[in-house]
Amino acid sequence: MADKIKKISVLFSGRGSNLEKLIERFHEKSFAGTETRVFPITNRPEANGINVAREHGIESIVIDHRKFKSREEFDRELVKVLKNINPDLVVMAGFMRIVTPIFTSNIDAINLHPSLLPLFKGANAIEESFKSGMKVGGVTVHRVDATLDGGKILAQECVKIEPCDTLESFTRKIREKEHYLLPKTVMELLGLKE
Ligand code: GRF
Repeated sequence: MADKIKKISVLFSGRGSNLEKLIERFHEKSFAGTETRVFPITNRPEANGINVAREHGIESIVIDHRKFKSREEFDRELVKVLKNINPDLVVMAGFMRIVTPIFTSNIDAINLHPSLLPLFKGANAIEESFKSGMKVGGVTVHRVDATLDGGKILAQECVKIEPCDTLESFTRKIREKEHYLLPKTVMELLGLKE
């Protein structure tokens, strides 16, 4: 029997490649007596991540944001669902929602962002950083607060922008870095040891 189970809620809205990395690393895995489980939650019934989770035998919870009159009402429901799961960590991985103080005052969460924050906040970070003329872009994991992509930085790594890079090749390198950095940061935050 494991001494303890650590639950990780993963919020996503689309493709779900980071969700998949978290599932592969943490779903029904054991780390020196601690078991880990992943609980996927999405705001989009058509999100590909639902299929990704299903392929790993996990049903996602769907809270369709279009069914709520306001951001606050959606966040109230999301908070209720999360409190019911009572996770040790809430991870936003491609969760394309601006959250309100109803969320941030109730839930401690971390978010993955594909730039060297505080540079290039928002939804077009990869393209903006590629076109910036900088020699490096990168990936950040940060705490979620009431500001957009503005919470305390927890982990950050660079990705070089080489003269031969295209937006596509740079995007691939960013994704690879995300797939490495997010699980690593989750390990550290949960105090998990191999
Ligand atoms: C990632 O680039 C993440 O940084 C951003 O949205 C993307 C999600 O990708 N917030 P995926 O759905 O995990 O494949």
